[in-house]
Amino acid sequence: MAKEVYEIGEAPPLGEVPPKMHAWLIRSERFGQPMQAFQKEVVDVPDIKDDEVLVYVMAAGINYNNVWAGLGIPINVIKIRNKAGEPEDFHIGGSDASGIVYKVGKDVTTHKVGDEVVIHCGMWDRDDPWVTAGNDPMYAPSFRIWGYETNYGSFAQFTKVQAHQCMPKPKHMNWEEAAAYVLVGATAYRMLHGWPEHAMKPNDPVLIWGGAGGLGSMAIQIVRAAGAVPVAIVAGEDKIDYCMNLGAKGCIDRRKFDHWGMLPHWKDTVGYNNWLKGVRSFGAAIWEALGEKRSPKVIFEHPGESTIPTSMFVCDTGGMVVICAGTTGYNATVDLRYLWMRQKRVQGSHFANDDQSYAMNELALNGQLNPCMSRAFTYDDLPLSHQLMHDNKHPHGNMSVLIGAPDFGLGKTASAPSGVPKAKLPKGDTHDTPHPYPLSAPLPEVDGEMEEIEIVDDGAKVRERMHPGIISCSRDDSLGKAAKTMIDNDIHALVVVEGEKAVGVLSQTDIVLARQGRTVEDARGLTVGEVMTQGCATVDVDAPLSGAVSDMMKRRIHRLVVCENGKPIGVLSMTDLVRRLME
Ligand SMILES: NC(=O)c1ccc[n+]([C@@H]2O[C@H](COP(=O)([O-])OP(=O)(O)OC[C@H]3O[C@@H](n4cnc5c(N)ncnc54)[C@H](OP(=O)(O)O)[C@@H]3O)[C@@H](O)[C@H]2O)c1
Repeated sequence: MAKEVYEIGEAPPLGEVPPKMHAWLIRSERFGQPMQAFQKEVVDVPDIKDDEVLVYVMAAGINYNNVWAGLGIPINVIKIRNKAGEPEDFHIGGSDASGIVYKVGKDVTTHKVGDEVVIHCGMWDRDDPWVTAGNDPMYAPSFRIWGYETNYGSFAQFTKVQAHQCMPKPKHMNWEEAAAYVLVGATAYRMLHGWPEHAMKPNDPVLIWGGAGGLGSMAIQIVRAAGAVPVAIVAGEDKIDYCMNLGAKGCIDRRKFDHWGMLPHWKDTVGYNNWLKGVRSFGAAIWEALGEKRSPKVIFEHPGESTIPTSMFVCDTGGMVVICAGTTGYNATVDLRYLWMRQKRVQGSHFANDDQSYAMNELALNGQLNPCMSRAFTYDDLPLSHQLMHDNKHPHGNMSVLIGAPDFGLGKTASAPSGVPKAKLPKGDTHDTPHPYPLSAPLPEVDGEMEEIEIVDDGAKVRERMHPGIISCSRDDSLGKAAKTMIDNDIHALVVVEGEKAVGVLSQTDIVLARQGRTVEDARGLTVGEVMTQGCATVDVDAPLSGAVSDMMKRRIHRLVVCENGKPIGVLSMTDLVRRLME
């Protein structure tokens, strides 16, 4: 008689689905760090729909997604699903897997019980009008990441997926290797091949950030397989061999450069020119790594804020910077002159559709893609694997965890095709940069149907916090005179007036920027009109203070001229706000 539940590592007879299964569950009441959030439980095996299959999971891949799901930030995945009508009060994560098909829905013709598969994490409703019209499902409103945005991921004995997610498992890989590469591999494939016109072509140089990371290690191999030329960036010399063995033509240690971060202001000639020096020497390092003076046609981006100015600069005329994450921050600064004059493209990219996932998997099947599995864990250590990721102590490459496979190294049924890239990470390798922000936090919709947005505002008005009266100067005043007025009055900016109208602001920043690259005498001799910030950022005296603060942040300025009936009557400055916070 069929058992109620099978032990971990004890496979039910092929095709027999017990009523219950072991799983690692996340529940809202224990949201927190992975060691606390994940708990073992026994739950019902889920039913499948007509287009779905039930897969007995042999091994599961580890991704950042479920570190965030366990923390409950930035979203509570359970609450969102409950709101959408799904009753389960728990989350079974896991967006990568290898396993065996145990049951198929009645409409499934592509798979049968016993098929050994790997699973891609793109799910969508088959009757979504966008999909039935033949469009890319990656833009469909029903698109979800399996095992993060959906329940019943791979951290359980059985997972429920749509048949189209299942792809043949490479016979030369063991279960844990096969569970490691699909999410990152398919994401990298879409980034590199999915944007026609700008997709890479044979012999194109391609620059890859984080060459030893999960995405980067896949990108190097996908670029190489397409006959293009990968150049990888890493932090530290020790990962260079790893990237070269995967197929990189050259490698650059980013620690030799220090021009990272947001772009200096274009008015800051010294800062900008220093940045230019840094980025040019980085460009020269690319040529050296490549062995010829050609700029990358495609830049494979994910660090974001700290590298995007460099990526935009070194990208070839007519090339593309393609980005799937903002690991170091979300504010991308771009010198638009390079964007339009050199007609570059910045392209966002997220996971992959079926065609792209299958094409990536073909590379794995025919031995052109090493899964770059750096560490595998037992079932019991699933929370630990996530904790290491949370603490940024995990190795580069891709990690997986055994679920149904009773031991490491099982599941290989054929020898590897010749030419599989071979690479070993340096011993003791761990991450040494802060862990990334979430992969796929649902973004607010225009119609605002997602989570309620709560704004705390104490109701204060600009009038209550402003500094009354304005100290002004005129366009024709010398910079020296204006600077003296500022010092004498111990203020950080002057309002530039013409008649009764405020026509601009002269701030300390404007003066400091004017001094950059000039002698003191030359700077003193300039007129206010030559240096001031044209136009005046104003706020009405009765406007809410919170709105004024947002406006300053948006414009990256420290003060607003306060007006009543259009006439300047005072100044609201960041300094005043900080001072009054303590009152
Ligand atoms: N949108 C999607 O579909 C999708 C899919 C998969 C992953 N992602 C996201 O993509 C990001 C990367 O994923 P992953 O799996 O490749 O992560 P990973 O294995 O942690 O690799 C990221 C690499 O980035 C490099 N890096 C870190 N800080 C950097 C900095 N300041 N400047 C330049 N490089 C830096 C690191 O290499 P070095 O320190 O050696 O330079 C690291 O190896 C994550 O945020 C992930 O959530 C998005």
